[in-house]
Amino acid sequence: RTVLVLNGPNLNLLGERDPDQYGTTTLADIEAMVRGAAEPRGFAVEWRQSNHEGELVDWIQEWRLQAVGVVINPAAYTHTSVAIRDALELVRGPVIEVHLSNIHEREGFRRHSYVADVADLQIAGEGAQGYVRAIDELARLLGPAPS
Ligand code: DQA
Repeated sequence: RTVLVLNGPNLNLLGERDPDQYGTTTLADIEAMVRGAAEPRGFAVEWRQSNHEGELVDWIQEWRLQAVGVVINPAAYTHTSVAIRDALELVRGPVIEVHLSNIHEREGFRRHSYVADVADLQIAGEGAQGYVRAIDELARLLGPAPS
């Protein structure tokens, strides 16, 4: 059971980005946390980050049927990308949208997410721990692994 975890633009620079919004945890730290949470639930993790919209679309397409679910922090593309939204609509399993910061309590332009209506759940404002909860929620949505 492979979970595709996608990270959008500028998330490669977590640790350097505004720590008040995003904390000091690096993306590599978050990857380790996610892998640690996924393993006992029987999930393999396909972990990706890109600064390019089309590359994210390509990965969603590639994994849309194989992945048991997708966890995605589309970063700034959350607020702009109909292409990522349309690709996510093709994903067979659950889609969980994650944001480190609470996008609803920031600038007005961050309040709207193009992805929200195709996601089963949005987690925002829980920092890196939100990614870990996304794995938990996915496990809950999917139920126990078939033996
Ligand atoms: C973000 C929130 C977005 O508004 C922003 O563009 C990001 C990160 C978050 O994780 O809080 O790059 O998705």
